[in-house]
Amino acid sequence: MVELKWKGKVEKEDIISKTNEIKPFHIIDIYPSINIDSKVDDRWENLLIWGENKVVMNSLLEEFKNKISLIYIDPPFATGGNFNLKIQIGENGNYIDDIAYEDKWKEGLKSYLDFMRERLILMKSLLTNSGSIFLHLDWHISHYIKVIMDEIFGYDNFRNEIIWAYPAASVKTRRYFIRSYDTILFYSKSDDYIFKDDPNIYQEFSNRVKNALKKDDKGIYYYRGGSHNGKKLSRKVYVEKEGIFPRDVWSDIPYIRANTSEYQGFSTQKPERLLKRIILASTNKNDIVTDFFCGSGTTLAVAEKLVRRWIGCDLNKHAIHMTRKRILNIDKSNDILDWKKIYKKKPQSFKILGVRKMEELDAIAYKLLKRKAQDNKIINKSPNLYVKIHQHDNKINVELTDYEIPFIDLISDKVKENIKSFSDWIDYWAVDFVPQNNIFKNMWFSCRTPKVRTLALKSDIYQYDISGIYNILVKTIDIFGIETIVSHEIKLA
Ligand SMILES: C[S@@+](CC[C@H](N)C(=O)[O-])C[C@H]1O[C@@H](n2cnc3c(N)ncnc32)[C@H](O)[C@@H]1O
Repeated sequence: MVELKWKGKVEKEDIISKTNEIKPFHIIDIYPSINIDSKVDDRWENLLIWGENKVVMNSLLEEFKNKISLIYIDPPFATGGNFNLKIQIGENGNYIDDIAYEDKWKEGLKSYLDFMRERLILMKSLLTNSGSIFLHLDWHISHYIKVIMDEIFGYDNFRNEIIWAYPAASVKTRRYFIRSYDTILFYSKSDDYIFKDDPNIYQEFSNRVKNALKKDDKGIYYYRGGSHNGKKLSRKVYVEKEGIFPRDVWSDIPYIRANTSEYQGFSTQKPERLLKRIILASTNKNDIVTDFFCGSGTTLAVAEKLVRRWIGCDLNKHAIHMTRKRILNIDKSNDILDWKKIYKKKPQSFKILGVRKMEELDAIAYKLLKRKAQDNKIINKSPNLYVKIHQHDNKINVELTDYEIPFIDLISDKVKENIKSFSDWIDYWAVDFVPQNNIFKNMWFSCRTPKVRTLALKSDIYQYDISGIYNILVKTIDIFGIETIVSHEIKLA
């Protein structure tokens, strides 16, 4: 077998024995399902995990070894650049740029290949025997990863090199041809893998065929031309489906544009239609679909709409928050099987887990502030959240009344200029009317989305059936990703 070697490449056996950093997950939030009708499985909760994916995968192995049907990943491409995330502020929705992740590698390609190889080995252990993996890469990295994949998954399990060709933005360079495609490598774990012929994954007919389609009482047909012994022949060909079984060049899926409802404000966001084709071709309903570099949550949103179970992970807290909001608002997004319709269904139950403690999580958000303020002496002081509880007999609702940031001096003028009211700091808030075991359970929420910038300042009314003392929890997440929770005791006679 051909193998790629580089200086310092670690033996596979050593990776497996050393890659064993397991950290227990802790629950950050629980989102019980309101969508009882189409619940996939009563015991299952989809998982969104905030953490470094090597640790996350290791920690998942105990429960999910050989259990995952599909892995799609869209990792950094070792470009050496920064990827920006646009943070939107308050009601007016103006953007400030933040670095979503840095695609920089200390020792260049070598360290990138080490990083990817370790993770690909773990992914293989998580995949079920009939499972598949799709690696979204680009022109300058895919060949290296191909050879590494052959080593891990086997040369014979390479199924396709998919070319996702999209119209390129006009680039000024005349030093090389304009780059206008990504590469997706598709491998299966074994020869016995799921791959389905589903009309919903079909590519449209070419314009030439579309223009030639005719209809009679037997159906839709076109004339296929040809010649035999110098004689021109043509015959009627009836088409059974609206399109053709997909080839490995996908030029029918446009890139996400900022004016579409799908756009989440994430610079490397991939189209839902791309994931629709991948998920429908290689999984059955209820199978587990995962994305360990989930970004804005495209894979998870599509898995949710196609009634698959899902697990997503990202080390960037903003990506986790963006995905949370995307899943919570999924009912307002386009239906994946009939794009002209709205999906309308509420999400299945999901949990947000962390492999770090809450304080560490917030320390990251504070770091973001520090960087913006160019000041290293920040004191970790939490914001002050003020709420008012409205009570009428056994009916309660909560109102946000103020939010103060103690480190206001550290915040850039660019951000401050956009804050007109206290609520402009807040991106999301939620209420747990009946907390249990100190874990925040979302019973009502309001949040801003890229297109809808209003935030409700009063929650819906919650009616209690049993009298007693309750400690209501109110949680906010601000534009920097800082989470604040306050608790209020209420007495119901
Ligand atoms: C190209 S983006 C994914 C975009 C995604 N496909 C979408 O449609 O939004 C890559 C993501 O990988 C995350 N990431 C990079 N290294 C990671 C690691 N070691 N563990 C977990 N996430 C990582 C980044 O934070 C980023 O959100």
